Amino acid sequence: MAERIDGKAMARAMLAETTAAVADLEARGISPALAVVLVGADPASEVYVGRKVRECEKAGIRSIEHRLAADTDEDALIALIDEMNVDGAIHGILIQLPLPAHINASRVLDRITPGKDVDGFHPVNVGRLSTGTGGLVPCTPLGIMKLLDSVIEDYRGLDAVVIGKSNIVGKPVAMLLLEREATVTVTHIETKGLPDIARKADIIVAAAGAPHLVRGYWVKEGAVVIDVGITRVTDHDGHTKIVGDCATHELEHARAVTPVPGGVGPMTIACLLANTVSAARATLESEPA
Ligand code: GUN
Repeated sequence: MAERIDGKAMARAMLAETTAAVADLEARGISPALAVVLVGADPASEVYVGRKVRECEKAGIRSIEHRLAADTDEDALIALIDEMNVDGAIHGILIQLPLPAHINASRVLDRITPGKDVDGFHPVNVGRLSTGTGGLVPCTPLGIMKLLDSVIEDYRGLDAVVIGKSNIVGKPVAMLLLEREATVTVTHIETKGLPDIARKADIIVAAAGAPHLVRGYWVKEGAVVIDVGITRVTDHDGHTKIVGDCATHELEHARAVTPVPGGVGPMTIACLLANTVSAARATLESEPA
């Protein structure tokens, strides 16, 4: 019977640590603050932003919400980022994705000062991650590594297969696994012979956004499987539910799996708050003594 890695419980524990770290920073005169920008009213983004803001409040992090109209012009968004970049009371800036099609997302993300880029999407942070030289690390990959760390002590020589090549999950998690000296294969939906590649893995990170893509026969006995998928589907009765990238009911021969929901999702938010605290703490360290 595969162990279910409890992302909810781990996220709760992380949030407790973050809450304590916030109190410590407050005592040193810093009130950690996260600015969250939502352009338009994508329903899923609304839910995510609401969750992020709520969790900030619980941890004592001040959140500043900017809800902008869907037709907001790119230069206005850039101007807002410029203002927040120089605002000493703001430590983290998060632009919720996806942005409307008329906005050049990479121009916008590149404008965020790297020290406030709590999503870890800025090219400087991406470069730091790929050279293993610090920086802010994207939240979902960070959460995935914490989930894996709860069941794996030593990654050296383990075979890890990442399914999905996104900038948000697939590529950065591959870098983090490489840093731990796993042997990493990055695959995607166009990869030939994916089941055979996956079956060799000690670790599978499924982040393709394809419901129940990973079947039981794809998974080696004793592998650890992280399911990053969150696809909303409607069943025959018209009920909607969230399904992952793995057919989890077929994975009882795995060593451990993450549930959907309640696995990676809660850890992403917990890591966002941890990144905000790191960014706030870094301002303290950069001040002259
Ligand atoms: N949209 C989906 N995932 C993410 C994320 O990790 N960060 C941001 N900013 N937007 C997202």
